[in-house]
Amino acid sequence: MNFLEIHSLSKAFDGLHAVENLHFTVKKNTITGLIGPNGAGKTTAFNLITHFLPKDSGKVVYAGENLKKLPAYKVVQRGMARTFQQIRLWPNLTVRENLLLACSREYDSWWKSFTHTNEAHQDTQIDEMLDKVNLRKYKNHLASDLSYGQSKLIEIARTILTDAELILLDEPASGINPTLLRTVEDLIFELKKQGKTILVIEHNMPFLMGISDEVVVMENGRFLMQDKPEKVQSDPRVLEAYLGG
Ligand SMILES: Nc1ncnc2c1ncn2[C@@H]1O[C@H](COP(=O)(O)OP(=O)(O)OP(=O)(O)O)[C@@H](O)[C@H]1O
Ligand SMILES: [Mg+2]
Repeated sequence: MNFLEIHSLSKAFDGLHAVENLHFTVKKNTITGLIGPNGAGKTTAFNLITHFLPKDSGKVVYAGENLKKLPAYKVVQRGMARTFQQIRLWPNLTVRENLLLACSREYDSWWKSFTHTNEAHQDTQIDEMLDKVNLRKYKNHLASDLSYGQSKLIEIARTILTDAELILLDEPASGINPTLLRTVEDLIFELKKQGKTILVIEHNMPFLMGISDEVVVMENGRFLMQDKPEKVQSDPRVLEAYLGG
């Protein structure tokens, strides 16, 4: 079953067609990779899918619902969460506080997440998550104390804590060391085991091809192909897209 369907999605910035007539599908409970050379439009596609940016035209169907012009925060409430290519943690909040803000989705206002009633339950969730990413000892450190790789892990952890059904990761492996990379891989596989659906942009091909059930390739804002990793890797059009770039 298709959990996400992208139909004829387009977005131009001052005449530059960043995403043009893009279409692809993501099946439920799979890991789908999204690749393409620098500037192919991958991050813009994420921004359009999550309604972080308004599309010029096209359709995003998520869990059978045409999202039309639903505001971004309501898209999150529907169960779609994403990370950003540029890390977006609150540097002056602690790691715990950054994660606490993610846990608050089920409550009617985020400031309530700081009240004592919810804190015990949420702290348990946060501790479990910090154990998974081996960062429990940083719980009460400021986010600004974390290394780049650690910050990326916390950002992924924050996305997971929203309890989203569809998780979009924008370059989770970029700039992180092999040990942290294995932690990212473990997290993604665990999410899949829990029944979640993952769409991941990545330039690290061995990593991406190793985790993906299917891979979508973009070139110049457009759809190039979608297939199993082994088919994509050996397709001359993909090689050409990268070498041509
Ligand atoms: N807000 C914006 N305003 C103007 N141009 C933009 C904007 N966002 C993206 N672009 C342009 O759209 C094109 C696609 O950019 P995008 O960031 O989506 O590519 P990408 O595939 O994610 O690249 P990378 O692999 O380098 O992250 C690029 O030419 C980029 O310069
Ligand atoms: Mg990008």
